[in-house]
Amino acid sequence: MNFASDNWAGAHPAIAAALQDAAGGFEPAYGGDRLTKAVEAEFARIFGRDVAVFFVGTGTAANSLALAALGKPGGLVFCHEGAHINTDEGSAPEYLSGCKLIGIPGVDGRLTAAALAETLARFPPNPVRYGQPAAVSLSNLTEYGTAYAPPDIAAIANVAHDAGLGVHLDGARFGNAVAAIGVPPAALSAAAGVDVMSFGGSKAGCFAAEAVLFFDPARAAEFPFLRKRSGHLFSKSRFIAAQFLALLEDDLWLDLARHANAMAAQLREAVTAAGGRLAWPAMGNEVFVILPQAMAKRAADSGARFGEWDAEPGMLSTDEVLIRLVTCFATTDAEVDAFARVLRT
Ligand SMILES: Cc1ncc(COP(=O)(O)O)c(C=O)c1O
Repeated sequence: MNFASDNWAGAHPAIAAALQDAAGGFEPAYGGDRLTKAVEAEFARIFGRDVAVFFVGTGTAANSLALAALGKPGGLVFCHEGAHINTDEGSAPEYLSGCKLIGIPGVDGRLTAAALAETLARFPPNPVRYGQPAAVSLSNLTEYGTAYAPPDIAAIANVAHDAGLGVHLDGARFGNAVAAIGVPPAALSAAAGVDVMSFGGSKAGCFAAEAVLFFDPARAAEFPFLRKRSGHLFSKSRFIAAQFLALLEDDLWLDLARHANAMAAQLREAVTAAGGRLAWPAMGNEVFVILPQAMAKRAADSGARFGEWDAEPGMLSTDEVLIRLVTCFATTDAEVDAFARVLRT
């Protein structure tokens, strides 16, 4: 009953096999290999356009360097106040981009175009001490397990572009968002106005594979220098590429995301049937649920693994706890059934 995190899971067998297959022989280093080129072609197929692709070491690096690419002197990056970049990345986005993050409240972890416009109005170009708006960053799935639909993203991107801001998307769980909303990947990214995205492979079934994607390759001209100077240019790029290739070919990433989302839907049913209350709508592979402390303790004592989460003010009564359950490609029906049984006892 491992629902602690999709980062706790190992790697999908197809990805493990691809890595083994790539292990022999010699290939040009630093991205000049055949597999890296093949991944670029796969991303172009998936998004229906040319995409400039840059592998980096972690999701934090992907977000931080993407924001560096959109940054300006005195730059301000607007995001949901609970966004991963604002709460869980140890100020790496500020450090690597040189921009200040401005957190904006929003229901269920989602920003709105209206809230962004209202916030931007507080940052006119003068006086210079305010800094200058540079980018907006969205996350899909959000940090609260909810998903944006294409019109939500397009409305935010319109406000951002009208104000001269770039639009970044944190896609650490992008496959789960695509599977949740049921639209083509481009509809939740380039076609909705996203300029640059972080595309996560690690949570999706890779050992460790993250990428920054530019939907206008001309905008990526300086990115090779940003990546190199932060130490994220892989010499043996083929091994990140081998993982991505196995994940993307035949849309394995979407099959795995659909599986993870289906497991989360079953968990959602089980926890609500047992009397739990959802903290936020569980749209992808994360279920945030409020349980009586005694029930959560019984589940933990039975061997279930999950994380305790910070609740919003007023969300919990004194004998309750907010927990996060995360599913992934490796979650089984048997694990979900066992958890449901523990909650019922
Ligand atoms: C939404 C989101 N973005 C980015 C990251 C960062 O990934 P990493 O831990 O690889 O830096 C995470 C990791 O949990 C995440 O949940």
